[in-house]
Amino acid sequence: MGKYKFSIDGKNHEFHTDQDVMYGEEGVIIDKDIDLMQDYSDGFTICKLSKSKAERLRRALQEFLKTEISNKTGIKLDNLEHYHKAVNIQVHENFFNEFSRGFKVSSLKELKFLDDEISKITSSDVSTKSPYDGNSYFWMRIIRPGILENNPAHKDVYLDYLRNAVNIYFPVCGSSKKSSLSIAPKTHKENEQNILRTVSGARVGKRQFTVPAILHINGSLELIRPNPQSDEMMVFSPYLVHGAGINEEIDLTRISLEMRFWPKNLSISSC
Ligand SMILES: [Fe+2]
Repeated sequence: MGKYKFSIDGKNHEFHTDQDVMYGEEGVIIDKDIDLMQDYSDGFTICKLSKSKAERLRRALQEFLKTEISNKTGIKLDNLEHYHKAVNIQVHENFFNEFSRGFKVSSLKELKFLDDEISKITSSDVSTKSPYDGNSYFWMRIIRPGILENNPAHKDVYLDYLRNAVNIYFPVCGSSKKSSLSIAPKTHKENEQNILRTVSGARVGKRQFTVPAILHINGSLELIRPNPQSDEMMVFSPYLVHGAGINEEIDLTRISLEMRFWPKNLSISSC
């Protein structure tokens, strides 16, 4: 079993894996692709939304999730931050498997304004429509306290159909300096030959992920939590190392919105 140290905001953690590991080939992946975050040298930015738009979006997402939980588990939740106390492990596993596939963007009209917001930030006309499969999806991530249950550190772009995009993280509830998404600034420009990763998709306990886990970059892995506030969202490159979904809150479930945007004029043949 390999043990790999990493840190989040200077606090040390360990990731254990018995999977085969490898270094990548010489080269920087984003050099061959469209860099929608080219104006942001760290590979991410925190963007301010109007308070009213942010609140409307958050309320809509909370209601959407409460309805999903109620329809799929029969559990009625008043406060989503208490999800981990209301939903037991077996119910959570069943719900997670279905829920993690995502939802059509068209099912929530409050998401629509984000196309314009992200277009402004990236100076590019973008939308949620994937040039790879033509679908527009959003995801909500549910991270219970004290459990490593989201992806370990990773880059989305090891999956070809996630390239040429930009990602967002928007806090829905329980998102704080102890629970929000971790990223490793500037790593979108890292040469793959310096990155040690699992050969296949990461495995954590019984959970199998599609993307490999990143273990070290030049011998270490240092992440930070930019921690967007309630009227902010984080916009980040999918070429950036991110994840290591540890919620260090004692008693709060963290829930966030995740979406991807691509240039509207991008066709696969031009990738
Ligand atoms: Fe990711």
